[in-house]
Amino acid sequence: MGTWKNGTVAVVTGAAQGVGRATALRLAQEGVSVIVDDVQRDKLHSVADEITRAGGSAHPFVADVGVQSEVAALIDEAERVYGGVDILINNAVAYGGPEEADINVESTPDAAWDRTFAVNFYGAVWGTRYAIPSMQRRGGGVIVNVGSTSGFSGDTVHAAYAASMAAKYSLTRSTATSHGKRGIRANAIASGLILSPTARKNLSEEKLAAYDANLLVEDFAEPEDLASVIVFLASSESKYITGQTLTADGGFQAHQPWHAQNHIVHPQAPIHEPVLR
Ligand SMILES: NC(=O)c1ccc[n+]([C@@H]2O[C@H](COP(=O)([O-])OP(=O)(O)OC[C@H]3O[C@@H](n4cnc5c(N)ncnc54)[C@H](O)[C@@H]3O)[C@@H](O)[C@H]2O)c1
Repeated sequence: MGTWKNGTVAVVTGAAQGVGRATALRLAQEGVSVIVDDVQRDKLHSVADEITRAGGSAHPFVADVGVQSEVAALIDEAERVYGGVDILINNAVAYGGPEEADINVESTPDAAWDRTFAVNFYGAVWGTRYAIPSMQRRGGGVIVNVGSTSGFSGDTVHAAYAASMAAKYSLTRSTATSHGKRGIRANAIASGLILSPTARKNLSEEKLAAYDANLLVEDFAEPEDLASVIVFLASSESKYITGQTLTADGGFQAHQPWHAQNHIVHPQAPIHEPVLR
């Protein structure tokens, strides 16, 4: 996709599985050298091995992006191993703190707010802060902040997660504005449901059907489908796009909230048949 400078280096956080893994594999296929980061050491090493076996270049580094010094060490490692960073994909995610404690503003404990913001928001702040000097030395760079449509809509659960995603979008716009003329592009993605290992664990047939009733495309996305959007935003193909939050959600946010009950609200409308698979 597009053209990549010779020796382009990407850092992908949360790369041991799901969207991060798919993004790292895809970037490596494009000839980009990838520093893959995660807290799951064994899985992370497997991803790096998989990339290397396929002829790509990857280096695993275990860093908890919710800890500032570890994010600094991650960017240092990119400098040490590959000479710097051109692309930063802030993808690692904490879903609601320990034991799914993140429910609503009244009940979510401080520890869950703190951990959710540390990983989802501060991880991106620190990654961006430490990567920018390296990117500028190398003639510019690109940041992609992976987020969720939860950052746009209220829900009865995951108050901290949603707020952390909205903060990530604001950070994206500020970075694009303050550093655009200094060679840095920054964009975010508001993702809908992706069938990653974490998402699959929490999906019953009933829950999938409820989602399906609001999906405007044929199928739910696999991690590779979001990876291709991330790689597009990281590549020169998107060079005129910056400061944006691009929604990739199969149409969830595109329609009226009563879409799944449209036959009640608009009985005159043709019936919206569920897609047959
Ligand atoms: N899967 C979905 O349905 C969905 C929906 C909306 C948004 N997203 C977004 O897509 C991105 C990827 O989601 P996914 O479903 O692939 O997630 P996932 O849970 O499958 O993978 C996330 C990875 O991040 C790692 N991680 C967690 N905390 C970390 C930390 N502190 N430091 C380093 N790594 C850490 C995990 O070990 C894991 O490997 C996230 O930013 C998420 O917000 C996903």
